[in-house]
Amino acid sequence: MVIRKFFGVILVIELIVNVFRVADGLSMQYYLISCPFAEQIVRNTVTRALQADPTLAAGLVRMHFHDCFIEGCDGSVLIDSTKQNTAEKDSPANLSLRGYEVIDKAKEELEKQCPGVVSCADILAMAARDAVFWAGGPVYDIPKGRKDGKRSKIEDTINLPSPFFNASQLINMFGQHGFSAQEMVALSGAHTLGVARCSSFKSRLSSVDPNLDSDFAKTLSKTCSAGDNAEQPFDATRNNFDNLYFNALQGKNGVLTSDQTLYASPQTNRIVNGYAFNQAMFFFDFQRAMLKMSLLDVKEGSKGEVRQNCHKIN
Ligand code: HEM
Repeated sequence: MVIRKFFGVILVIELIVNVFRVADGLSMQYYLISCPFAEQIVRNTVTRALQADPTLAAGLVRMHFHDCFIEGCDGSVLIDSTKQNTAEKDSPANLSLRGYEVIDKAKEELEKQCPGVVSCADILAMAARDAVFWAGGPVYDIPKGRKDGKRSKIEDTINLPSPFFNASQLINMFGQHGFSAQEMVALSGAHTLGVARCSSFKSRLSSVDPNLDSDFAKTLSKTCSAGDNAEQPFDATRNNFDNLYFNALQGKNGVLTSDQTLYASPQTNRIVNGYAFNQAMFFFDFQRAMLKMSLLDVKEGSKGEVRQNCHKIN
């Protein structure tokens, strides 16, 4: 009888633990005991930062993507270069990343509450999630427990997608990370937030592009008349998370070659039309794909560390 009860209790405990466990070592309630207010601290920091500067939502979402695609979601994008090592953040593909100070602020608050517990990789994943929601996008929960990596090398950023890619190249690159074409298009919908600089699209303006609306080409040229760093919003509502990006693609108003190709290519055209027509479907697919992205090659347990300072390895 006693033995039966004992095994019963063990079974219940195992069940509870498994409910919260998503991938080995990661769980929804990872900080429940060690830092119970971790989620709130990140959310409050992000909210305060975005109230002061709503454009940072885009910066945080993009930074999380660039973190996860290189060496997995391990905070490697946050590491500073040293005399011996040029880090990811100094790659041309990362020079326009924004929002580092938001991660630093959250880390500072977390170190006060629970020193040495919450990884920079988790902070970035939570901050991106909170930024999407703050901008009006879908709400989603992510497992925590990512450890911070110890490698950040400029040469690894060759594996970030180029704005000059066509749909096949994008499908191929995202496929290498386990994403379907539909998931790739959904993730590209993050371009509902933010801007691109002229240098990322000016090559489209030197010849007639049948996939670029002629009036919109004039808009882009006007933007570029202010120089390579002049910013062009991806859609009409740069700080709102909505499906206008996909409507823009239907009107041949995509800013990057890699945006417009999603509409031009028969491989992805149907998906763009679906998201342009049905925002709820876009939101649903986006949050699922973001959750999947947040789990890319995560480092668990002794495979990584919890950095004291997000800018450098311990
Ligand atoms: C599909 C392949 C992708 C390519 C080729 C691409 C490329 C780019 C480029 C070139 C820029 C502008 C950079 C600049 O000119 O300064 C940009 C901005 C941005 N990207 Fe992507 N991106 C892709 C996918 C994604 C994904 C998957 C996400 C997030 C889930 C994302 C989030 C963003 C955001 C939010 C911005 C605006 C950043 C800001 O305003 O600071 N992108 N992207």
